[in-house]
This record gives sequence, C-alpha cells and structure tokens, in this order.
Amino acid sequence: MSNKISFNPSFPKRGAERLLWGGIYCQLPNKSVVFIKKAQLMMSTKQDTLYSSPISSVNSFKFDQSVVNVFPDMIRRSVPGYQAIISAIGLLAGRYAQDNSVCYDLGCSLGAATLSMRHEIVSKCCKIIAVDNSESMVYQLKKNLLQDTGSIDVECLCADIRDITIENASVVVLNFTLQFIPIEDRQAFLDKVYQGLRPGGILILSEKLKFDDPLQQELQTELHHAFKKSQGYSDLEISQKRSALENVLLAETFNTHQKRLSEVGFSSTEVWFQYFNFASMIALKK
Ligand SMILES: C[S@@+](CC[C@H](N)C(=O)[O-])C[C@H]1O[C@@H](n2cnc3c(N)ncnc32)[C@H](O)[C@@H]1O
Repeated sequence: MSNKISFNPSFPKRGAERLLWGGIYCQLPNKSVVFIKKAQLMMSTKQDTLYSSPISSVNSFKFDQSVVNVFPDMIRRSVPGYQAIISAIGLLAGRYAQDNSVCYDLGCSLGAATLSMRHEIVSKCCKIIAVDNSESMVYQLKKNLLQDTGSIDVECLCADIRDITIENASVVVLNFTLQFIPIEDRQAFLDKVYQGLRPGGILILSEKLKFDDPLQQELQTELHHAFKKSQGYSDLEISQKRSALENVLLAETFNTHQKRLSEVGFSSTEVWFQYFNFASMIALKK
C-alpha cells in the first residue's frame, strides 16, 4: 500500500469551497478521510529525531532553531491530547473573546493556539497578541502568519512574558508555558494576568501535572512514556529528553495551581481536559 497522503480539494463535492475557509480534505493510505486545517498545513512536518542518537552529556532543553524545525511533530507526539486542546482553545476564544478586547497567547511558540483563536473569534475589533522569548520561534511564527488568511490582527512580540504589560484582555492562553517559568515568579506573573483581564474574562492554563501520591506519580509517568512509545519515540529518546527537561520543566499539582489562581483572585478553576499527566484548566474572572 502506498504511504502517500492524497490531497483532494474536490472531496466531498463542495471541498473547494471548504479549502477557501480553512483547510483541505486528505485521503490517508487506509482510505479514511481527514480534514486538515490550513493552520496545521502550514506547520512544518519534519520528524523530531533530536534525541534519537546517544548523547554523551545531555544539555538543558532550549527552544532554539533545532527545536523550531521539528516543533509541530515534537509537541504532537509528546503531549497527549495536544491537538484537542488547540482546537478547544479556538472554541473557548470564540465564546469568551469580548468586543474591543485583546486575546493573549503567552509562550505562543509557532502560534498553533493563536491561529486556532484567529479562526474562531467572532467578536468585533479584537486583536491577538502572541508572545514568546525564543527569537527562532517568533521568526517562524511571523512566516506562518504571512500565509494565514485570518482577518484578526495578530501582534507578535519577542519578549519574556514576565516583562510585558497585559491589559484589556478577555482571553489569556498559557498553553504549556507556565511550567517553564521559575516557580517563585509564578504568583506575581499570574497576578499580572488577573489584573489585565476584564471581568468575564478567562485564563486557559495547560500544564504537565505532578501528583502528591508517589504511586499515582509513577503510574502517570509510565503512562506518558507509553504514549510517547506509541508515537514512535524509542526508550533512548524518551530518557534523553527527560534528562534535558530536568530542572527546566517544573510541574506542579492541580491543587497548587488551583490554590494559587484562587489567591490571585480567579473565582474558580477547573480542569476541562486531562490525558494522563497533561491537563488544561479554565480559570474564570467574575
Ligand atoms: C511548550 S512551548 C508552548 C507551546 C505553545 N503554547 C503551543 O500551544 O503550541 C513553551 C513555549 O514557551 C516559551 N517560553 C518559555 N518561557 C518563556 C518566557 N519566560 N517568556 C516567553 N516565552 C517563554 C518557549 O520559548 C516555548 O516556545
């Protein structure tokens, strides 16, 4: 059987029209048909093999050009449920973005959440501010945006999210970003997010979680590794990547996140999605 994916803009009958508003139908080798959004089509499909060969001394993980080159593949095969979360961020922005307000994508990487929001927001005079402190990420994000046809303004900033001003926000997205901020800075940073949100606004916070119960911690870690193996990563890749992320990705428990968000003022925080030790939460500002 051929491994080729066939792009078929005329499937189904009105496929060409569909291509105009957001993507393309593709037939997979097993004959099933999937719809790939334009935003996803624009992302690189290069396979992540960064940790596939033995490395004598594994350096701390950095979001540099080598990561940018494989990032869509890396995050999709490393974070269970990533694509479902990205789609839901669009839906949530469609519901919560207020007229004349700003939606922030903080630690935006290549802009998957930005693009998802851009194609779902219906409120008037909204803009998106996408921020990342990796120059390589922001450079590639700007290139991706040039090919996107969304009509909502997107401002890209290369900056540390702890240093920017957040104001007039109706939606703030932290999709697997807070975990890279030093723990001692998280409260002050989230206080700034809360103060910058309008009443009725939301924070979408996705994080890798830690568990108080050692048995649960062990189980969820093993399940995550099983997920990565099912995605084609070898034991060597999993273990070298784990070393690279040690002391860089600092996970906390759901209770810690919930307590901190309550302390800065959010009226409630709940998990709306969880797949093993990866969760996405919604925090509401009254
Ligand atoms: C796991 S990626 C986020 C994925 C992205 N939000 C998405 O949905 O595809 C974490 C990102 O946060 C960025 N980052 C980490 N610390 C940051 C900081 N202090 N300020 C700005 N960006 C930061 C990294 O450069 C990286 O692109």
